[in-house]
Amino acid sequence: MVDADPRLATVADARDVARLLHAFNVEFDTPTPRAEVLAERIASLVERDDTFVVVAGSPPNAIGLVTLRPNVWSGTVALLDELYVEPGARGRGIGARVLALVVEEAAGRGATELEVEVDEPDVDAQRFYEREGLPLADAETGDRAFVVRRTL
Ligand SMILES: CC(C)(COP(=O)(O)OP(=O)(O)OC[C@H]1O[C@@H](n2cnc3c(N)ncnc32)[C@H](O)[C@@H]1OP(=O)(O)O)[C@@H](O)C(=O)NCCC(=O)NCCS
Repeated sequence: MVDADPRLATVADARDVARLLHAFNVEFDTPTPRAEVLAERIASLVERDDTFVVVAGSPPNAIGLVTLRPNVWSGTVALLDELYVEPGARGRGIGARVLALVVEEAAGRGATELEVEVDEPDVDAQRFYEREGLPLADAETGDRAFVVRRTL
């Protein structure tokens, strides 16, 4: 395992990205499709302009998956859907480097804002995001935002 620089994933990385997404869901007891099913989805998503994946490591041990959407106020918003570093590789700066490329690539694709959803019990991830310039509360008002959703 080599801590290779983060880079943009291509279709050739689909199986590794799927493996890591599957591991993420298993680690956090979230239902997950089989890695082969995920790999097919990833292969088609990385061909699009509105989705990209950053991978790091050789073979990859970290991913950041981003989707971009139009926004009436700011043009384009990037959502960091998934950020995952394999357990054995955490705490040595890989997540921060993946996030840095996520920011650079999202800005390069026209995004003016980066959003991340983080669950209340995930205090380690919250500390990471705070440190990386994604505070839990609005810097001016101190307000915290909540994500509400229903299944359709
Ligand atoms: C959050 C995460 C992506 C950070 O990646 P990383 O490579 O460990 O991050 P870095 O080495 O750049 O930074 C370390 C910081 O990450 C945070 N962190 C979160 N979980 C950690 C873990 N298990 N081990 C070490 N650091 C962790 C801490 O804030 C740590 O800072 P600290 O040393 O001051 O405690 C990674 O820990 C991870 O994949 N966690 C599980 C999945 C997750 O929570 N993803 C985010 C969902 S919103």
